[in-house]
Amino acid sequence: MANPWKTFKRQYYKPFKRRFAPWRTVRYGDIHVQYKKHLDGGGTYFGQDFIPLLKSWGMPRQERAFEWCAGPGFIGLSMMAHGLCETLCLADINPEAVEACRRTVAANRLEPRVSVYESDNLKDIPASETWDLVVSNPPHFDDGYYEAELRAHDPGWRLHREFLKDVGRFLKPDGVIVLQENNNGSTAATFRNMIDEAGLKTVFVNNEIPQLTPDHRFFYLGIMHKDASVPDWAKRAAAG
Ligand SMILES: C[S@@+](CC[C@H](N)C(=O)[O-])C[C@H]1O[C@@H](n2cnc3c(N)ncnc32)[C@H](O)[C@@H]1O
Repeated sequence: MANPWKTFKRQYYKPFKRRFAPWRTVRYGDIHVQYKKHLDGGGTYFGQDFIPLLKSWGMPRQERAFEWCAGPGFIGLSMMAHGLCETLCLADINPEAVEACRRTVAANRLEPRVSVYESDNLKDIPASETWDLVVSNPPHFDDGYYEAELRAHDPGWRLHREFLKDVGRFLKPDGVIVLQENNNGSTAATFRNMIDEAGLKTVFVNNEIPQLTPDHRFFYLGIMHKDASVPDWAKRAAAG
């Protein structure tokens, strides 16, 4: 039987407390990103690994990038601050995360370069959006300990499956998706059929171990349209 105190804490006390949590700021280059602690899903920490990694692969500056499951936009905004993308689209289902993104956009006068959407997966993204690059640190676990935690839990991988099914409509013909996944919750094989059934192909798997690991270890999946030509930087990612 569910513990009533735990249920009360999760449903009422935590959301109430979070509403009054203080705003914080983290700086990437010239961009000051606003967030609350409970909105950080690792984007201020391992999410920042994207920057040296994309640079080490020699990825050229991308015209338009999208951060899926963006939270406050730590990864996308840091990419922009580091000259890895010209313009950016951010989306998340959590209205508080979307508020954080909008506060950052307003405070840094980024309106001409950054669009923000509240959206359950890609459902409310306008059809006019098209992306050269998609990055994400999405929820990494399909069951168990992280149950009921929006930042970490993707039951039955529904979120990943739907994303892969729909993202092709927004991805430019030679656009690349780079997902940061956690070897503690999945391996590349977890997503292989979903990618194939969506008409996409895996173009690199970087830093993965083919078995689940007891601790957190992050790997990167590079995904493109099946008929896309793979850019040199993604070939370098495949080489390790
Ligand atoms: C691991 S957190 C990452 C947040 C941020 N990108 C970071 O790196 O700190 C996963 C994010 O996915 C979002 N999310 C969960 N389910 C979603 C859905 N159905 N549609 C859009 N975003 C979702 C959560 O609100 C959360 O912000």
